[in-house]
Amino acid sequence: MSERPRLSVIGTGYLGATHAVCMVELGYEVIGLDVDHAKIDALRAGQIPFFEPGLPELLAKHMDSGKLRFTTDYAEVAEFADVHFVCVGTPQKQGQYAADLTYVEAAFTSLAQHLTRRALVVGKSTVPAGTAARMAQLLADVSPNKDVELAWNPEFLREGFAVEDTLRPDRLVFGVHSEWAEQTIRSAFAPVIENGCPVIVTDYATAELVKVAANSFLATKISFINAMAEVCEATGADVTQLADAIGHDARIGRRFLNAGLGFGGGCLPKDIRAFIARAGELGVDQAVSFLRDVDEINLRRRARTVELGLDLNDGSYRGTKVAVLGAAFKPNSDDVRDSPALDVAASIARRGAEVYLYDPEANANAAKRHPELTYVNTLDEAVSGADLVMLLTEWNEFRQMDPEFIGSKVNKRNIVDGRNVLDPVQWRGAGWVYRSLGRP
Ligand code: UDX
Repeated sequence: MSERPRLSVIGTGYLGATHAVCMVELGYEVIGLDVDHAKIDALRAGQIPFFEPGLPELLAKHMDSGKLRFTTDYAEVAEFADVHFVCVGTPQKQGQYAADLTYVEAAFTSLAQHLTRRALVVGKSTVPAGTAARMAQLLADVSPNKDVELAWNPEFLREGFAVEDTLRPDRLVFGVHSEWAEQTIRSAFAPVIENGCPVIVTDYATAELVKVAANSFLATKISFINAMAEVCEATGADVTQLADAIGHDARIGRRFLNAGLGFGGGCLPKDIRAFIARAGELGVDQAVSFLRDVDEINLRRRARTVELGLDLNDGSYRGTKVAVLGAAFKPNSDDVRDSPALDVAASIARRGAEVYLYDPEANANAAKRHPELTYVNTLDEAVSGADLVMLLTEWNEFRQMDPEFIGSKVNKRNIVDGRNVLDPVQWRGAGWVYRSLGRP
């Protein structure tokens, strides 16, 4: 394999679009494929079809370099590239915990049918343990060239930091079953490895599990601190101080110990559920039964937030105007998949509140899922005349709010801080009734 293999990226969602653009930045020639013509048209026009800081600039930089192109044609991809990264989604199955592998199977099958020359196919999608071995068999069965091999390379990027995480990852994990596959995938990450990134070379099953184990750990850390928040609420203790205090222990660490409305998004919730489902099939359901609690603690925070607002609204949402600040599952993202903020907004609207929702980036995506809410384009419009303000996604714009200024706009100075990012002393000092999760 030459030092710089040519790459393809199959699936141009959050993961694939970021991976394709960043690999060009690292010096590779890349072709991106998606079966969704609209996505490919947008990318060809230089548009990233979602909000991700830094990515549009990087796409613009490389658009006309001749090193990056996009297609919907598998034959073109198979002809062009030496290494193929499969980056398609694995959503939760409707009404079940298990992951839906339809897109993974379709991508592997379509690619394999066209692979007439030696190639390495690299799975990046988050999948249940055992999928890689099945995909290796599929490649062997379907591909006309019998020199096609598989590697598994889980991806750990965070939305909002996707460019940084792709260019400078914490670690690279390569699940490979041959020396050639290892050397080839190393050549596809050469600049990252030369930069000092740690590499873990392992088997398929471990590589698959690293991803779900990492996400399970992160989800557990968040639910642990949110469980402590429940206890704090019963004892009058302050969960943010508790987190600071235990976080000083380097073995625990302060990161991912922010108590509040809990986790959402396209990864953590569905990945822990898929893990529960797969562990059941493998006969080790007891080993991960704690993840059911992790999920339940997480969802209880949403219900608690609705309750806190109810308390401030004298026991009823009916006929009140509620300003909801935030719809995205976290700041610096327009993603509303399994968003705690949007879930709470919809829930209080069902209880009769008139919800005025403002998110700096996610209004459009939120409106597709919950058209019944009223979306406004500024913080000012959201809070004007509100009986209650609910801060549910911690965008900087909301962290920096001035309690006096916001107070001059609202009807009643009532606020629920669902992310523990405001200073209670400052807000109470300005005459607000301030409530938050896990703080007195
Ligand atoms: C996550 C993993 O971090 C990433 O490694 C993996 O590849 C995909 O899933 P992401 O979904 O982008 O990334 O978001 P992340 O930053 O991990 O946040 C997940 C959720 O947890 C958000 O809803 C966030 O608000 C919440 N969270 C995070 C907390 O509630 N408290 C915290 O302390 C940290």
